[in-house]
Amino acid sequence: MAEFALPANSKIGVGKTHKARAPAKRVKTFRIYRWNPDDGANPRIDSYEVDLDGCGPMVLDALIKIKNEIDTTLTFRRSCREGICGSCAMNVDGTNTLACTKPIDDVSGDVKVYPLPHMKVVKDLVPDLTTAYAQLASIEPWLKTRTPAPPDRERLQSPEERKRLDGLWECILCFCCQTSCPSYWWNGERYLGPAVLLQAYRWIADSRDEYTGERLDALEDPFRLYRCHTIMNCTKTCPKGLNPAKAIAEIKKLMVVRR
Ligand code: SF4
Ligand code: SF4
Ligand code: FES
Repeated sequence: MAEFALPANSKIGVGKTHKARAPAKRVKTFRIYRWNPDDGANPRIDSYEVDLDGCGPMVLDALIKIKNEIDTTLTFRRSCREGICGSCAMNVDGTNTLACTKPIDDVSGDVKVYPLPHMKVVKDLVPDLTTAYAQLASIEPWLKTRTPAPPDRERLQSPEERKRLDGLWECILCFCCQTSCPSYWWNGERYLGPAVLLQAYRWIADSRDEYTGERLDALEDPFRLYRCHTIMNCTKTCPKGLNPAKAIAEIKKLMVVRR
C-alpha cells in the first residue's frame, strides 16, 4: 500500500502554553493552529487557557479574548459575529463551522481550532480563498437578461417563482461546505465545489434570469460539475442548514431533461 508523509516543513509542532491567571475557576483550553509565513518555522499548536467566567459563549468570543488579552499575534477573520458575513469559518473540534455561532459548551474537553482544511493558509486561521473566489466569479453570480427591464417597475416574480430561491439565497459563502468536500480536496482546481455550484443553481433557478442555457453549457464538463459523487459532507457541515448536494442534484437533473 502506498504511504504518504507530510513534507518536513509541514509537520505540526508543539507550541507555547499560555496558562490562565489566578483566580480563574472555569478554565477551558483552546489548542490553536499557528503558522506565520514570515518566520520560516513549521506550523505549531499553541495552547491558551481561557477563564470562561470572563468570556462570551461562542468560540469567536474566546478567540477575540485571546487576541485582546493573551496573544495579539493570533490572526483570524471575523466581521459580523452573528453568522451573516461568513468570514469566521474555520475547523472547530473537527468540523467546519462558524466560530461566532459555535458555542464553546458544545465542545467537551479542549477546543481544537484549525483553519478550513485543504486550503493554502495565509496565516494562522486565515485560509487563502483566491481560487474559490475565482471559481465563484466564473459562474457569473448576477442576474443576466436579454430583454430590457420595464421602465416603470422592477422585474416581477410570482410567489411560487420566488419560493424556488429559498434554501439558496441564504448562502453566506463561508466555504465550510466547499472545504469539507473530498472531491474538492482532490480536484480543487477543476471541480467547482458545493458552495460555487449552489450559487450557480441560485441563478439557474431564478425565473428572471434569461441565460439558463448558457449557464448549463458552462457547467457541462466532467470536472466542473460531475466530480460531485453525492458524498454529502457538504450538506452535513453547512452552518446555515442549507443543502448544496440537493442544488447540485437539481443541476444534474436539468442537464438530463434538456438532452
Ligand atoms: S455531495 Fe458532492 S459536493 Fe457535497 S461533499 Fe459530496 S461530492 Fe462534495
Ligand atoms: S452552502 Fe452553507 S456551508 Fe456552503 S458556503 Fe453556503 S452557507 Fe457556507
Ligand atoms: S463573524 Fe460573520 S459569520 Fe462569523
